[in-house]
Amino acid sequence: MHYRIILLLLFVNISLAYTQSIDFHNAVQPIVIKHCTPCHSKKGAAPFVLETYSQVASKAKMIASVTSTRYMPPWKANPAYRHFANERLLSNEEIATITKWVNTGMPEGRIVLQKANNLTHNSAKEKPDLILKMPTSIKILGDNKQHYFCYKIPFTIDVAKPVRAIAFVPGNRKRVHHASYQIVETTPKANIYSLPHYFEYNTAENNIDDMRGYNFLNLTDSNETEAPRLVFHTGWLPGTSRHVYPPGVGFTMPVKGVLLIRNLHYAAAPLEEEDQSEVHIYYAKTPIKRVLEFAAFKPKNVSNVIPKDSVVSYRLALRMGSDMSLLGINPHMHKLGTYFKAFAITPSKDTIRLIEILNWDFNWQEFYRFQHPIFIPKGSYINAEARYDNTERNINNPNRPPKDILFEYGNMDDDREEMMRLIFLYLPYQKGDESIDLCGF
Ligand code: HEC
Repeated sequence: MHYRIILLLLFVNISLAYTQSIDFHNAVQPIVIKHCTPCHSKKGAAPFVLETYSQVASKAKMIASVTSTRYMPPWKANPAYRHFANERLLSNEEIATITKWVNTGMPEGRIVLQKANNLTHNSAKEKPDLILKMPTSIKILGDNKQHYFCYKIPFTIDVAKPVRAIAFVPGNRKRVHHASYQIVETTPKANIYSLPHYFEYNTAENNIDDMRGYNFLNLTDSNETEAPRLVFHTGWLPGTSRHVYPPGVGFTMPVKGVLLIRNLHYAAAPLEEEDQSEVHIYYAKTPIKRVLEFAAFKPKNVSNVIPKDSVVSYRLALRMGSDMSLLGINPHMHKLGTYFKAFAITPSKDTIRLIEILNWDFNWQEFYRFQHPIFIPKGSYINAEARYDNTERNINNPNRPPKDILFEYGNMDDDREEMMRLIFLYLPYQKGDESIDLCGF
């Protein structure tokens, strides 16, 4: 009797599996458009396009492999610790669908009638209101060395504008490694359009500090009566999505100023190449009521060397002096990093989980956006732990054999120096912030 039931069930399962046809157009393309095309498009961060049947079918085996190992789409934050608004994760069903499609010979199926623009991901449809492009391209030497530049893109607009989203778009996707950039308002008299537009760090203008850098790029007027004003600061790293904020939140684009790429880092390569990157700005329809704030934390009083052949952890614990609403978080380490975790302990001893990264990968970093603002009450402690593996076992260790590595020294060299940064994007807390939806815009 038992046997019969089991056999019957088996039969039902098998017949179901055969009647459900998984073909490209009805099952696979919607997954690809939603999860892959945002990067695997003509202007995206990935090296090839995934959109049409032939593009996907020609890489099918590799796609099945990178999705089932969860190497793609890249997402490093542990979803069991916290979910985020900009999370890029395939569900188990979606992975199974792709695998099954590949294993059953990649049937194409019938093209579902749809308008061409349904094939484009939403974020690619929106046109920026202002594109700030580097006025001239930078020559990046092919000397197998990393290069660091500071670059200004001057702008003047008719009236100050509220900004709700901003994105860095690298020109040379192979060489641009990361960029930290700012909007700086200058005085009406500052001669921002004059040369030079940029300088390279570690050259004649070595160790330039803020003010000298501003003067060198002519961001101050000749009398230097008024300093330029920092309006907004953020960054781009491989994997970073567009920065976008809820209604009423953002910053105001001044009438005159520069987009200052404070630190534009190019990867080492054997061939000389050029780059002309740009920043896209999206205006809001309503004025900005709450201006975004940034804070960067690093550990204090710690050893400034990570000895070779050692695994070390650095911790930071900071008391917050006022109520804040956390909108986003960005952990940062270099190539020895393996693990990162941050959480808050409130004055009433509640633990608020912020982020955990189990397998840190320098190549995939992100400004993680919370699904709702996280209320951090005054008097809370922010705790963070960063782990570094300076042994040969760490496959990302740039030095073989391992070498002593400086910690928080200020040289900005990813291969010879480590750092630990916890960056918060936040607003001063207002009642009801917890219920703002940060996903649906
Ligand atoms: C956030 C951007 C991003 C998203 C989203 C993304 N990719 Fe990628 N993908 C990249 C980049 C950049 C590379 C090249 C660097 C690398 O291989 O690590 C890449 C590489 C690949 C490779 C080549 C891997 C190899 O070993 O050479 C495959 C295959 C791939 N992606 C498939 C996908 C699929 C399938 C999806 C969607 C399910 C997807 N990717 C989503 C950015 C992305």
